[in-house]
Amino acid sequence: MVKRVLSGIQPTHDSFHLGNYLGALQQWVELQSTHDAYYCIVDLHALTVEVDPALLRKRILASAAQLLAIGINPEKSTLFIQSHVPAHNQLGWVFECITGFGEANRMTQFKDKSQKSGADRTVVGLFTYPMLQAADILLYQPELVPVGEDQRQHIELTRDLAQRFNSSYGEVFTVPGAHILKSKAKIMDLQEPTSKMSKSATSLAGVIELLDTPEANIKKIKSAVTDTGREVTFDEEQKAGISNLLSIFAAITGRSIPSIEADYVGKGYGDFKKDVAEVVTDSLKPIREAALTYLKDEGALLEILRVGAERADAVASQTLADVYQALGLLPRA
Ligand code: TYM
Repeated sequence: MVKRVLSGIQPTHDSFHLGNYLGALQQWVELQSTHDAYYCIVDLHALTVEVDPALLRKRILASAAQLLAIGINPEKSTLFIQSHVPAHNQLGWVFECITGFGEANRMTQFKDKSQKSGADRTVVGLFTYPMLQAADILLYQPELVPVGEDQRQHIELTRDLAQRFNSSYGEVFTVPGAHILKSKAKIMDLQEPTSKMSKSATSLAGVIELLDTPEANIKKIKSAVTDTGREVTFDEEQKAGISNLLSIFAAITGRSIPSIEADYVGKGYGDFKKDVAEVVTDSLKPIREAALTYLKDEGALLEILRVGAERADAVASQTLADVYQALGLLPRA
């Protein structure tokens, strides 16, 4: 049988960024050729931050358009919106009931995000977020979950919950593995190369957005923070900025870092940045154009998502029924 993959992305911003693209989305596209792929726009997760309804609606559509633009093919992959499949919330509750409070409290993403916004503004949904994520995954019984490094701990929790449920109530869940490609799993902010590139960064000056104009992205890459040295060599400790640009260059071109380093012996950072800007914008330009075209036909986008939700719902409802039965819940007559 063909193995299954599942992954998700939040529609929390106007555009996905280069970290999303290299860390996760490129793998989504690759895996759809070899696997039965389920890709989900996790709109319910996006409710853990304050919502502007008109903007959220726009961002959900823009997310779908970008996923199609990078090459997610709805004939090969099931592309759907989380809130269209009610089993996500239903299984999420079951996982909330088998997750320890201390265990949830150890999630570093929760700690980071709640620290940033302060206790008064931290919502309960942020705390239970990883259990909803476990439901997103386990409903589809995937073998693999392609994500960036920042999701590793959530996937570990998902595995623990699957194993815990299976050993208490019978083998219902496939225990999935994280699919994390070391070389691109942590793309850093161009202005703050010791922090990951993130949509919630205080400034977007170091964030390359898929839907931004090539000119804007060229400017951001040319202004990337580097160091006082001159050699284009990979050294994450001493040369975090240059190392990040090397990783980006390598991830986009498929070349090895040593071969890129060899090209820049005797050249300066200026030449290198110019070339990074070129390979990045060359690869993002067609994506931006395709996404803008998809966005022109909302009806077609909604139809793709409708078909996706139908396919997803069939799989998810079956898993949920198995879970309820294993738990001893009485089916409705
Ligand atoms: P999200 O929406 O923040 O990010 C989507 C994907 O992009 C990856 N990513 C990165 N990879 C490399 N470098 C970076 N700087 C970088 N920033 C983001 C993320 O690791 C992710 O793979 N909790 C998830 C969404 C989610 C999910 C799921 C994922 C909900 N349910 C089920 C997988 C399976 C999140 O917030 O991703």
